[in-house]
Amino acid sequence: MTVDLVVIGKAYLGGRFEEVAIAVDSGVIVGVTKPPLAPPSNARVEFGEKFLVLPGMVDLHVHMREPGLEYKEDWRSGSRAAVKGGVTLVVDMPNNRPPSNSCDRLREKLQRASEKSLVDFAFYAGFNPRLEELEDCGGLYVGFKLYPEDLFAQDAVSVFRRAASVGKPVVVHAEDPSFFRKSRRHSEARPPVAERAGILRALDLAEATGAWLHVTHLSTEIGLLEVLRAKVSARHRVTFDVTPHHALLSEALYSSPLSKVAVVNPPLRSEGDVRAVYASLRSGLADALVTDHAPHSLEEKLADNPAPGFPGLELALHLLLDEILSGRLGLPALELYCRRPAELMGFSKGSIAPGFDGDLVVVAKEEWRVRGEELESRAKYTPFEGRVLRTKTHAVYVRGLEVYTAGYFMAEKGGRLAVPRGRASGFEAP
Ligand code: DOR
Ligand code: ZN
Repeated sequence: MTVDLVVIGKAYLGGRFEEVAIAVDSGVIVGVTKPPLAPPSNARVEFGEKFLVLPGMVDLHVHMREPGLEYKEDWRSGSRAAVKGGVTLVVDMPNNRPPSNSCDRLREKLQRASEKSLVDFAFYAGFNPRLEELEDCGGLYVGFKLYPEDLFAQDAVSVFRRAASVGKPVVVHAEDPSFFRKSRRHSEARPPVAERAGILRALDLAEATGAWLHVTHLSTEIGLLEVLRAKVSARHRVTFDVTPHHALLSEALYSSPLSKVAVVNPPLRSEGDVRAVYASLRSGLADALVTDHAPHSLEEKLADNPAPGFPGLELALHLLLDEILSGRLGLPALELYCRRPAELMGFSKGSIAPGFDGDLVVVAKEEWRVRGEELESRAKYTPFEGRVLRTKTHAVYVRGLEVYTAGYFMAEKGGRLAVPRGRASGFEAP
């Protein structure tokens, strides 16, 4: 049999690198063999010594902003940023304008993303007390997202109840707004106790309903301890993710020239909190690494009240590889950004093995310096400004389609809705 594509190189096969040929046909990996045993193919690409072949990364927390806030980002600019960061599946948050919290709005997002995205995508549903408006399109969202104000709304419990009945996670931004206070320093305006209280509230709701609780962008040691305790003892499922910024940057940035750029929710924290978040990555206790890619216009960032968030998609994999190549993290930490998030949500992605989608990222071992103005995202700033990284994205394949090579985008679109195994979307991609 002649396959569509064979990629040869030193590939990450879960725990180790090995020189192999990866055969992809009809978008799916059909074989991983020693190079001489590769099947005949219509296209064959060989990557030498300087390169590493990785599975496409899976980012469970991004804000592509379209529809409604395209001046910050849209599916084209955001998915190009994903490609540059070696990310081939993004799961998009619902805080669009208007929020993506009904079937109609999710269908519109599907339409936009299908027309413009270079990478595969999935969505969360936003808070909506009228749950019937989300009933007929379960195939269009992989979980429910609650923001701090939603979590403390009366109807929050009904979302948890619904999530439990359909077997999807409630993804929670866990902060209790009643602990917020006025302070010029962002980390003091939203102190660690706010996160802990948010987590306790979410755990109560999960306990009462049996729902799967997923705490996203966990940022404090006291929050981590609550989540770990619940992971061990709760009868319902508890998972969590962390971001590169909470693992690598501290609140010291709020006394630096990057203070406005670094505003994000939850805020950057103390050295002790950073160590705790980092330890959750190193130990594998965290279930995933996510970027919380949250682009805003530069004007919004430089305002007196800076908009919270910054782009992250282009840097996360390379920041992670930098920690691994420097020996601070073990090789398995890579899985927190590919296999583990894919498994969490049930996607056939994030691993180089037969039966998985042919999503491949080739990175070059090459030093470069991070410069916000060179980002592909519409948001051209980053709190990681000036950092030197040791790997760079060289080529990206999405289900076997070459979308990027050596600085050039090779396709205009090609992404589609990713559907967890055993589920049908109920929708044909337009
Ligand atoms: O920093 C943040 N940015 N935190 C959030 O919760 C929202 C996000 C955004 O959408 O900008
Ligand atoms: Zn977010």
